[in-house]
Amino acid sequence: MKRHPALQDLSREHYDALKLARDGKAAALSGDAAAAAACGAHVARVFENEMEPHFREEESELLPFLAAAGENELVWRTLAEHAELRTLAAALRQPDAATLLRFSELLTAHVRFEERTLFEAAQTHGFGADTALSAAPVPAYAAAMPPAAPAPHR
Ligand SMILES: [Fe+2]
Ligand SMILES: [Fe+2]
Repeated sequence: MKRHPALQDLSREHYDALKLARDGKAAALSGDAAAAAACGAHVARVFENEMEPHFREEESELLPFLAAAGENELVWRTLAEHAELRTLAAALRQPDAATLLRFSELLTAHVRFEERTLFEAAQTHGFGADTALSAAPVPAYAAAMPPAAPAPHR
């Protein structure tokens, strides 16, 4: 399914995250401790500057929307993985190959889960459908609204 505009920026950042995870895994498995340490320190910085804001955006907009739609299992899995990734990224401030490998593998799995399952569920439930950028069909619940209901303004 084509990504909804409300999710496109997050999807673009996922692409960068997958690239970082690929590099992290390669460095972790290289057998070169210095290279793994350098990459781990880089990952810790990128996490703080780019991924933490990405997580917060998901947690402040997307997850409350999905929780309200009843997708509690998906929400809990996302939060649990965010928590583990945060712990691993904090540990990478003193980087080692094993932590870098675990972080890289979990990040890859997390991004795939969000792209294949979480974002698909968000689109199915009409996430972002009330934004001006929306090209998505009107969500089913909108049909049940009283005809006199005013359109939301942002
Ligand atoms: Fe996430
Ligand atoms: Fe994400």
